[in-house]
Amino acid sequence: MRRKLAAGNWKMNGSLAAMAEVRALCEAHPAPTVDILLCPPATLIWPMASMRHDHPLAVGAQDCHAEAKGAHTGDISAAMLKEAGATAVIVGHSERRADHGETSQTVAAKGSAAIANGLLAVVCVGETLEEREAGHTLDVVGTQLADSLPEGANADTLVIAYEPVWAIGTGKVPTLEQIGEVHGYLRAQLADHLPGDADGIRLLYGGSVKGSNAAEIFAVADVDGALVGGASLTAEDFSPIVSALQ
Ligand code: G3P
Repeated sequence: MRRKLAAGNWKMNGSLAAMAEVRALCEAHPAPTVDILLCPPATLIWPMASMRHDHPLAVGAQDCHAEAKGAHTGDISAAMLKEAGATAVIVGHSERRADHGETSQTVAAKGSAAIANGLLAVVCVGETLEEREAGHTLDVVGTQLADSLPEGANADTLVIAYEPVWAIGTGKVPTLEQIGEVHGYLRAQLADHLPGDADGIRLLYGGSVKGSNAAEIFAVADVDGALVGGASLTAEDFSPIVSALQ
């Protein structure tokens, strides 16, 4: 049985003042029956991890470097993130693939570093609108998945997030059939790559998830939760999504 996961990606948003939102979220869900993960900017990992006390809310990062240390100005290693209080890290988000030229091979190396340091790797895949309209969605996400799989990946160390690029921050959401098709395909691909672990690996959907559409998305087969951007920034918006998953 896969434990559901409500994950929030704050991207480059938030400040110390936003810890009030985290407190409110914890108060709204004092004993959650699903996993809750928030991934703030790196500067907020330690404050967020420190203020949650004994609440099971997990704190994650949005990226890590593949190497342990060295001359990489501006980068942060997986071990550093762990020391700051992170237990997970998103790798291969489409914004990093696009803005920082990350290839799936880079993503695999980062994910491997995350897992080697005891962090949950949340690996993102997703097609652009052009790729979907050309009928290449399954080829694109299948190739990204195969090439992005980290070493040490299993049901305890890996989560896959399917985020169609065209659905991120746009208010556009694929049909439930489209989501189901991709998630079913990813599950089958995982069975090929990681036999024995595929059934336990959680598959998240991401892209314009809101309180108003969460329940129907969560009812789709092979959707084990969501990776939420904009609607994860406040307790008011994220709490209904967590509730829909429970
Ligand atoms: O990683 C989550 C994200 O890309 C989805 O963003 O704002 O559409 O929920 P949003």
